[in-house]
Amino acid sequence: MFIVFEGVDGCGKSTHAKLLTQWLRKRGKNVFYTAEPTNGEVGVLIRKILSGKITADPKTLALLFTADRAQHVLEIEKHLRKGHIVVSDRYYHSTVAYQAAQGIDRNWLLKLNNFAPNADIVLYLDVSAKDAEMRARSGEIFEKKEFLAKVRREYMKFKRLDIVDATEEKKTVQDKIREIVSDALDKR
Ligand code: TYD
Repeated sequence: MFIVFEGVDGCGKSTHAKLLTQWLRKRGKNVFYTAEPTNGEVGVLIRKILSGKITADPKTLALLFTADRAQHVLEIEKHLRKGHIVVSDRYYHSTVAYQAAQGIDRNWLLKLNNFAPNADIVLYLDVSAKDAEMRARSGEIFEKKEFLAKVRREYMKFKRLDIVDATEEKKTVQDKIREIVSDALDKR
């Protein structure tokens, strides 16, 4: 099973992805927890751009995120073949939503990411752009509410998202996530 967490900056997906991973492990599941951008060479370069140390135009950034993902997919597939549950903090939906919000053609982004296998569950942690801006404080380039509102609109164009209201209390949000994942596991 392949589970992805998505959402705008500051939505709390990293916290919830980690909590879900702990919970699944306690239930005896073998879980590979991972995130994009990765810690690989391309991921490190991306972090430099996100911090504003160096600049890259949106198309270059889209290609870098996707190159990072190409490497990442190999690792994800290795774990899926072993029967592990994979939990990823961000996946190709991030490239489609963020780089489309930067003005890149959405269909081009979707086609570029065609190689990436679909996840079984895409949990979208929903917060307003205003809340997101207040909560996101890492100093990265995308943490502005006008931009995050565009990103959110791009995310909403995806059909198969499990949307979770992430403005609720942490426990309520996590319980909802566990319910969605439990149901999916039971159906297997
Ligand atoms: P984020 O999950 O916010 O990482 P952290 O919480 O560790 O800073 O991701 C970093 C930023 O990169 C975030 O603003 C979203 C953006 N991003 C893209 O623009 N495109 C992508 O394909 C990915 C994976 C992330």
